[in-house]
Amino acid sequence: MDNAFIATTFDWDHRTPKPWQMYANKTFNKLRVPVRLSPAPGHMANVEARMNLFHLLEQVIAYGVPGDVVDLGCNAGDSSIVMQRVLKALAPDRQLHAFDSFEGLPEVSGSDRQDGVYAKGYMAAPLEVFRRKFDQLGLPHPHVHMGWFQDTVPQYLPERIAFALIDGDLYESTRQVLPAVYERMAPGAIGMIAVYYDEKVLPRRGLSGGYRSPGVKRACDEFFAGKPEDVRVLYANEYSNGYFRKR
Ligand SMILES: C[S@@+](CC[C@H](N)C(=O)[O-])C[C@H]1O[C@@H](n2cnc3c(N)ncnc32)[C@H](O)[C@@H]1O
Repeated sequence: MDNAFIATTFDWDHRTPKPWQMYANKTFNKLRVPVRLSPAPGHMANVEARMNLFHLLEQVIAYGVPGDVVDLGCNAGDSSIVMQRVLKALAPDRQLHAFDSFEGLPEVSGSDRQDGVYAKGYMAAPLEVFRRKFDQLGLPHPHVHMGWFQDTVPQYLPERIAFALIDGDLYESTRQVLPAVYERMAPGAIGMIAVYYDEKVLPRRGLSGGYRSPGVKRACDEFFAGKPEDVRVLYANEYSNGYFRKR
């Protein structure tokens, strides 16, 4: 399938400057200031991260890895939209399960608190917004599991998983879901970890806290110690991604 929808659905192809930005751009131009304003994208990821998601999911389908697909931390639905479009085109029998509190992050505790990056309720996106986006795009709604991962994941995670996006930002949220997801992954299944930042692979000076989400890598390091898989880095500009393939 083509993946141009990633640009057009999320307005990444071309964002037309607002009138005041056009005016400012003309002034910058006259003054030979190399700056050009355009509206901010306002998404939870960037185009590189969506491309990574597209290719990894397409890969498990192309290789016939059995199982359903899960989005752990679906927020307002953009990652689920990418996944559902791929499933609709290539594997309509596979089910997409989307998990989120729809009230943002949980109480930040332990080592997450020490990181000082996040606070409770951060990134809250209501379920109505999620549903509206699927309606507007005419896409089938995924199975939505609203609540805290610790309550929903043990009950609603599908038995066999071919692909999982793990995007909980916190050490605790990542730590809570990894064992259950890993256990259900078929051989060859892929787990993609959002905001997985490894400064040994790609040091980025000046990257702010949320893009580093240090708890995510910490939880992965702990979980994968002694396991045959390891998490590799995929470039996604300010949103670095990690992924592993189940042996
Ligand atoms: C960065 S956002 C996800 C972005 C989305 N995957 C995307 O790419 O568009 C992280 C989401 O994880 C959810 N989340 C984090 N920890 C959670 C937990 N323990 N239980 C339920 N939801 C959680 C938050 O509510 C938030 O919506």
